[in-house]
Amino acid sequence: MPDPSAALRFDVVTLFPELFDLPLRVSVIGRAIERGVISVEAHDLRQHGIGRHRAVDDYPYGGGAGMVMRPEPLFAAVEPLRAAGAMVILMDPAGERLTDRLARELAAAGHLAIVCGRYEGIDERTRALADREVSIGDYVLTGGELPALVLIDAVARLVPGVIEPASHESDSFADGLLEGPQYTRPETFREMAVPDVLLSGHHGEVARWRRREALRRTLRRRPDLLEGAPLSPEDRVELDRLARTDEAADGADER
Ligand code: ADE
Repeated sequence: MPDPSAALRFDVVTLFPELFDLPLRVSVIGRAIERGVISVEAHDLRQHGIGRHRAVDDYPYGGGAGMVMRPEPLFAAVEPLRAAGAMVILMDPAGERLTDRLARELAAAGHLAIVCGRYEGIDERTRALADREVSIGDYVLTGGELPALVLIDAVARLVPGVIEPASHESDSFADGLLEGPQYTRPETFREMAVPDVLLSGHHGEVARWRRREALRRTLRRRPDLLEGAPLSPEDRVELDRLARTDEAADGADER
């Protein structure tokens, strides 16, 4: 049952509700659901299928390969969710790309209804149901269920109380940069030592090193992100220096 007291409620419309069982029972998301911070309910689209065979798809007008999902079952499943105040999201490879920024926007919505497509596509008229269409990347999966799980995970972890607030601050993308390297014990592993500064106990130097490594990693791996990142004058000096030197040439970020 959906939990009305949850800070964020997801309703998912799918032909395969069982795909949402195990992934939502484990780890961080599983605990958040158990504690009632978020709620996820998968609705079986087949229940709205047409006729004795509960058909949800049919041949494409004009011919062509594959089947197309009919609009009536999708409307029947989604309209009550929309009437209950949900923002309706259609998972579709032609949608806007899921980013950290979009995930933050959706986390504030309160109630999301996620529609998972299957087969070769959905009847075009179904798009009228959606407030937003979201893609998780430029590749095509066999259906919207795995993308929906990706979206739920990315959005749910931003809801207050799902993970420690401090964990967000250093996340890759949260400040527009990739997160720099992390280390734990042992101090030396197969002759690879943890950088001295992390053992120094000097918080200021550790913070400066982390910022520099985040800048370095972003410059080497995802320079496109630097255009949208809020950068201080010191960051810009550091980036200039990094761009001019080859000092990371043998580092992992050069791969
Ligand atoms: N359905 C199939 N492929 C998809 C993708 N890349 N993103 C969202 N939904 C999809």
